[in-house]
Amino acid sequence: MIPREVKLVEVGPRDGLQNEPRPLDAAAKIALIERLAESGLRVVESGSFVSPKWVPQMADTDKVMAGIRRKPGVSYPVLVPNMKGLDGALAAKADEIAVFGAASESFSRKNINCSIAESLERFAPVVDRARAAGVRVRGYVSCVLGCPYEGAVAPAAVAGVSAKLFAMGCYEVSLGDTIGVGTPGAAQAMVEAVAAAVPRERLAVHFHDTWGQALANILACLERGIATVDSAVAGLGGCPYANGASGNVATEDVLYMLDGLGVRTGVDFGQLAAAGRFVCEKLGRPPLAKAAQAQAARLEKAGERA
Ligand code: HMG
Ligand code: MG
Repeated sequence: MIPREVKLVEVGPRDGLQNEPRPLDAAAKIALIERLAESGLRVVESGSFVSPKWVPQMADTDKVMAGIRRKPGVSYPVLVPNMKGLDGALAAKADEIAVFGAASESFSRKNINCSIAESLERFAPVVDRARAAGVRVRGYVSCVLGCPYEGAVAPAAVAGVSAKLFAMGCYEVSLGDTIGVGTPGAAQAMVEAVAAAVPRERLAVHFHDTWGQALANILACLERGIATVDSAVAGLGGCPYANGASGNVATEDVLYMLDGLGVRTGVDFGQLAAAGRFVCEKLGRPPLAKAAQAQAARLEKAGERA
C-alpha cells in the first residue's frame, strides 16, 4: 500500500541551479523560491554554504537567504559540508541544514575531498552544534544505486552510512541516486536494506532521471512505504562532481503522478508549473517536465479556441 500523504522536498533552487551553466542572479533565485513556497511546497532547499571555488553557482546563498520572504510552515534548508558552512548557515538564520555524505569512497573524495569516515567525523560536531542552535539536520547519502567511478554500490554500504547519519542526529536521511542508474527492483532492495537500520518514516528518496527511471523508482519506493520524495521543479539539475548526471526528477511529473494516485501533497499543480516556466525563461532553456509540457500545450490549445 502506498502512503496517503507524501512530503515533497523541492531541491531545484539548490541541486538544480548548482549545475546550470548559466548562473541565475540572487533576485531570480529569491523569486523562484517564493513561488515554489506559494505553490504549497513545505520544504524548499534554497542553496548551499560550500566552497565557491567548488560550486560557484551557490556563492550567493547568503544573499538569497537574506532576501526570501519566509512563509510560516515552510522550511528552507541549505547544504553544509563542514563547520565553515555551518557558520554561514547560522549567520543566514537557516532553519534547517543538510550534511551530505556518500556510500562510495571515490565519490566522497571527488565531491567533498575526504573519505567517508572523515566526512562522518567532520559532520558529527556540525550536527551537534546545529541542533544545539535549534536547527534541524537532514543527511544525504549519494550514490545509493551506483557510483560514476566505482560502478555498483552494495545496499549494505548505503545502510551503514545512513545508520551513522541517523545515529548522529539527522532527523531524515535522503537516499540519492546521484547518477540516475537505478531501476525499481534495485531501488526496493536498497530501501529494504536501509529500512532495517533506519526507520522507514525517516527515509527520503532522491532520484536523478539520467536513465529515465526516476518516476518508476519513486513508485517502487512508495510501495515500500517511503513517504518523502525529493524533486526539482522543471527537472533542473545534476551534480557538478558526477559527470553526466542529469537533472533531478521533475517535481511537476512527480506531482502529476501523486495527484493521479490520490496521494495528498498540498501542492498546486498550476502554481508549481508556473514557477517552472518562470525559471526556465530565466535560464533560457526548455522545461524538462513532461507534465509541464503537456499542460502548456493544453493551455495553448484552450487559448486558440477562446
Ligand atoms: P577543501 O578544499 O578540502 O577544503 O574542500 P579546505 O577545508 O581545505 O579549504 C579550502 C578552501 O575552501 C579554504 O579557502 C576554505 O576557507 C574554503 P582558501 O583559504 O583556499 O581561500 N572553504 C569554504 N568556503 C566556503 N564555504 C565552506 C568552505 N569550506 C572550506 N563551507 C569542501 C572541501 C567540502 C569545502 C569542498 O569540497 C566543497 O565545498 N564541496 C562541495 C561540493 C558540492 O557542493 N557538491 C554538490 C552538492 S552534493 C550533491 O549534489 C548530491 C545530492 O544532491 C544528493 C545526490 O544527488 O546524491 C545532495
Ligand atoms: Mg542530487
